[in-house]
Amino acid sequence: MTTRLKGAVIGCGFFAQNHLHGWAEFDDVEIVAVCDLDDAKAKAAAEIFGIARVYTSAQALFETEVLDFVDIPTTMEMHEPLAGLAFAHGVPVILQKPFAPDLDACKRIVAAAEAANVTLMIHEDFRFQNLFRKVRDIVDSGELGRLTFGRLSWRTGINVYANQPYLVHVKRFIIMDVGVHLLDLARFLFGEANSVFCRTQQIKTGIAGEDAAIVLLGHDNGATSILDFSYATKRDPDPFPQTLGEIEGTDGTLIIGAGGTLTLHANGATRTIAVPHDCRGWTSEPWTQIQDSVVHTQRHFIDSLRRGIEPATSGRDSLATYALLEAAYLSAASGALIHPDRFPREPA
Ligand SMILES: NC(=O)c1ccc[n+]([C@@H]2O[C@H](COP(=O)([O-])OP(=O)(O)OC[C@H]3O[C@@H](n4cnc5c(N)ncnc54)[C@H](O)[C@@H]3O)[C@@H](O)[C@H]2O)c1
Repeated sequence: MTTRLKGAVIGCGFFAQNHLHGWAEFDDVEIVAVCDLDDAKAKAAAEIFGIARVYTSAQALFETEVLDFVDIPTTMEMHEPLAGLAFAHGVPVILQKPFAPDLDACKRIVAAAEAANVTLMIHEDFRFQNLFRKVRDIVDSGELGRLTFGRLSWRTGINVYANQPYLVHVKRFIIMDVGVHLLDLARFLFGEANSVFCRTQQIKTGIAGEDAAIVLLGHDNGATSILDFSYATKRDPDPFPQTLGEIEGTDGTLIIGAGGTLTLHANGATRTIAVPHDCRGWTSEPWTQIQDSVVHTQRHFIDSLRRGIEPATSGRDSLATYALLEAAYLSAASGALIHPDRFPREPA
């Protein structure tokens, strides 16, 4: 029988509940401890998920537990110190997005992981949705020909501030929160980008950052992609949390429609493909698509650890996503087209 990997979860807040539910589905993983600065949150998680030990100090956790990995779904400000503690104890890490408050901090975290020779993955879940696995398969099949254009659109009016009240105060808001997912998806589907233009808007009053943005990417393969996203869109039905869009190539077009419906026009024929997400006992609409992808992301991390390979969204890989994010903010502030820093992956 496969040995069970022993893990801990640091941060038992809003989104961590999905991580905890996800880990509970794995036969080959045991979460042996949870940690939160807030004792009540850590204890509640331990009770609900039957987890043996509870900590309010990450230092104490690492000094006491023997761990195969740690999952850190805190907000990004704590990622560098918490990941640093894990690396000092030789423990592989999966960090929630966004990676860190700025690109320099991301680079420091990657350097620390590499110096410690431990795996670091960013929990970037959109590319692990069933829908985007299928989209990628279609792109890879060559049916669309050479890619020329793509649009990924994520627009909603849900009250995101109810579950995540800290978002009212963040100065770099929607590109960090949602844009980073779409930037990663754009890399996943169209490949690396070498130019970034961005325009941001603050539509809701009383918040500190931008709540709508459009990013235009020029990709190395010649394709152009547009990412548009908004938390200030009044629409019925509200598409949250779906990413809609289209991909054009020299031989066809793929429409990414609502409800996980793909419409593929290629070779003179049109067909529709339904791509459902997996409903789980603990998932609930409208979150199912995201919750389901959490489990696929976790599975990828565990499989990468077991096989000793670099995860697709490793820390090093995610530097390229983050460079696009930094370039988008720089473009929005300056009005200029920005050529992002490049971070090629080591050959496998
Ligand atoms: N991937 C997605 O689809 C998705 C969706 C929602 C949120 N998120 C991300 O999840 C992250 C967490 O968001 P949230 O809304 O759950 O935040 P939250 O504030 O509800 O939870 C964070 C928890 O971490 C704890 N914490 C902070 N520092 C700690 C430390 N040093 N040691 C132990 N515990 C500590 C806090 O006490 C809190 O309980 C954010 O970065 C957010 O962007 C991702």
